[in-house]
Order: sequence, then C-alpha cells, then structure tokens
Amino acid sequence: MKEKLQNIREEALKAIQTADVPERLNDVRVKFLGKKGELTAVLKSMKDVAAEDRPKIGQMVNEARAEIEAALEESKKKMERAIREEKMKQEVIDVTLPAKKNMVGHRHPNTIALEEVERIFVGMGYEVVEGPEVEYDLYNFEKLNIPDGHPAKDEQDTFYVNKDIVLRTQTSSVQARIMEQSRPPIRVISPGRVFRSDEVDATHSPSFHQIEGLVVDKNISFADLKGTLEVFAKELFGPETKTKFRPHHFPFTEPSAEVDVSCFKCGGKGCRFCKGTGWIEILGCGVVHPHVLEMCGIDPEEYSGFAFGVGLERIALLKYEIDDMRLLYENDIRFLKQF
Ligand code: DAH
Repeated sequence: MKEKLQNIREEALKAIQTADVPERLNDVRVKFLGKKGELTAVLKSMKDVAAEDRPKIGQMVNEARAEIEAALEESKKKMERAIREEKMKQEVIDVTLPAKKNMVGHRHPNTIALEEVERIFVGMGYEVVEGPEVEYDLYNFEKLNIPDGHPAKDEQDTFYVNKDIVLRTQTSSVQARIMEQSRPPIRVISPGRVFRSDEVDATHSPSFHQIEGLVVDKNISFADLKGTLEVFAKELFGPETKTKFRPHHFPFTEPSAEVDVSCFKCGGKGCRFCKGTGWIEILGCGVVHPHVLEMCGIDPEEYSGFAFGVGLERIALLKYEIDDMRLLYENDIRFLKQF
C-alpha cells in the first residue's frame, strides 16, 4: 500500500511537470484527485487495510493529496504568469508611433458670430429667448401692425402651413410673444431661423437667421436705441466704428431706421467691400409702435420701447469677409475650418 501511494505520488508529480497547458493540469487533477481518481480509490480500499495501519495510511494519503494539490497550484500559477507575459509581449505599445488624429468638428461661422452678438448683449443685461419657427400669422404679422392685405406681407412672402400658420419670416414674431407673456422691464434678444420664398443667390436664401432685440420699459426713447446700437457696433466691428441712422419704414416701429456702420475695411474712405460708399448696412430698428404695444397688452401711455433686427448671416459674411452666402450652407469642411 505504501509503495502504491508512493507510485501514485511520483506519477502525479511527473504528470504535473510535463503538463504544458492548464487543461492538462486539470486532467491530472481528475486522474488522481477526482471522485474516480487513483488517490480516491486508495481511500476507498482502506477497508482492506489492517485496522492498526489505517491511521498511518490515511495520513500518507492526505500528505500525498496535499503535495499533489500544492504542485498543481504552483504549476497553474506558473503557467498563468507565462501566458500573461506572452500576451503583454504581443501587446507592446510603441509610444513613438505617430498618434491617430481625431477629426474634431468646427464651429460654423454663423455660430461664432451669434455667440459674439450674444456675448455683447448679455453683457448689457439682455436675456436670450427663443420662439417657434412654425408661427401663427398672428405673431408674425398681425400683432406687428401687418394686417391682411398690407404690402409688407408681400415683401416677406413665405411658406404657409395653412391660412393661419406660417414659417416665420422674421424673428420679430418673438417680440409679440414676449410682450404678451411678460411685463416690462423687458430686455431680450432672440436669435433664430426665418424663412422666405427667396431664390438662392450670393445674398439670398429661403432660410436664414436673424437676431431680434427688444427693450420695453418706462421712458425708453430713440436715444436709448442709438446708444445701445452704437455700443453694439463698436464691440462687434471695433472701437473706431461709426454708426449712421437712416430713416426707414417698418410697420411695427415708429420712427424706424436702418443702421449703417462705417466700413471697417477702409475706415470709411470707400472700397470694394463697401461698394465705394464708406458705409455698410447692418440692421433695421425703431421705437416700438404704440399700437403694437397695445395689441400685446402693454399700456403705451406708461411704457415705451425700442426694437431691432439683425441678419446673422450678414454679420458673419461681413466679419469673416465671405463674399457668397451659399458657402455658409454647403458645410464644406475645407471652408468651415478657416474660421
Ligand atoms: N424684421 C425686420 C426684417 O426682417 C427687421 C427689423 C426691423 C426688426 C426693425 C426690428 C425692427 O425689430 O425694429 O426686415
């Protein structure tokens, strides 16, 4: 019996030594220590051993078992370590290789220009608000003093969803919404997309963007409008910039004006950029018409206000000296990357 145990022990240890993969080790475990294993068989045959020898043999079986188990464990660890090392060798990272460059997107010139305009007005205490692109005729026209049949409606021909709903032609629609919803003091700008049934060319698009401005409070006058837009122009185009207010007509403001800025390219002398005039038109504005205030539930005896509307694309084209509006919509990365 003793000899048999000795043989099993040696045989098992040898098998462990020659095992080359973890699966072989498992075979060894099953063969010698498993339920039907050789060592287990010895234990089972203990009944044939003389009673006085049993403790001795039992102890020897246990010792053999412990030894085989330890050898299995050690061998398994060794194999795992070797496998890990091999894997690490294969996965070696060459830090001197050039990195793969990630393509990072780029802000659109419109976005850059909008953020600049927002920065200027937020700095003056304005809030940025938004309105819907699909708008009631009521807010886009009616409440802005443009009733049915008004010629201004022709100028801003647009896409009708039905008789009462249009794709808004101007962000001025947000003026009416804000005045209706809130009480003065109101100081907001509202950027967004507008739609007109225009043919595409270098300066026109059926869909473009505007930024609306509205201030309503007690004692607001044209002087406040002038001061505000002067600061805006200087911030946007540089401290040398001069502004010129030319009388104009908009149905929802009275008086109304268009604002020109001195050409930031030639300083006003006249160049290709300003078509030789020294001035560049940038926006429309005026004092909010009392009837508009009234229609939006604000008492014109108590409050007054001013409003203005800027074309965002126009600002972007001017600021970045882009001479064709279509470039802004093509989203050619080679173009966009430049700004
Ligand atoms: N909504 C006008 C347009 O699209 C621009 C405009 C003019 C807006 C005068 C204003 C304003 O708020 O006071 O042509």
